Amino acid sequence: MKTAIIYESKHHGNTKKICDRIAKECGTVLVEAASVDENFNWKDYDLIGFASGIAYSRFYDHVTRAAGLIPHGKKVFFIYTCAKNDKDFAAGIKKTAADRGAVCLGSYGCRGYNTYGPLKLIGGMNRNNPNEDELQAAVDFVKKLEANHEE
Ligand SMILES: Cc1cc2nc3c(=O)[nH]c(=O)nc-3n(C[C@H](O)[C@H](O)[C@H](O)COP(=O)(O)O)c2cc1C
Repeated sequence: MKTAIIYESKHHGNTKKICDRIAKECGTVLVEAASVDENFNWKDYDLIGFASGIAYSRFYDHVTRAAGLIPHGKKVFFIYTCAKNDKDFAAGIKKTAADRGAVCLGSYGCRGYNTYGPLKLIGGMNRNNPNEDELQAAVDFVKKLEANHEE
């Protein structure tokens, strides 16, 4: 099973921290979303993840744009970090991928360090997130998807 995660992590590297742990434990290939274009070799991978921080309730633009290029029938999943994990922030990008005919297998989200706006003045929020439990939960999420979708 070969898995790639297409990611963008620009606020504090919170999402990258999760991607790095998954890559280390699952052998996943990490691809910067900004580098994905029409020539991306989707067929090299059995599973594709899209990972991002959240800005204004959405995945970052490069990740959403990459999801808009996904070929029909591809199996995909979503990972995000956010300030307040109280809704499914993957809903929008899921629709983008589903409209292309991708098969959406699920999403994992957790909190990430956030210093956006006035929060900076008080040292931000979620200074210790993603924490060890959240990193492990993300790894377990990917391992389970891989086990369930072995060709
Ligand atoms: C400009 C901006 C907008 C944000 N908007 C939201 C938001 O709408 N909802 C939320 O829960 N978090 C929001 N956040 C917090 C980030 O999603 C969070 O810090 C995330 O972990 C950043 O991920 P990254 O370090 O991988 O880029 C925002 C942060 C920034 C800088």
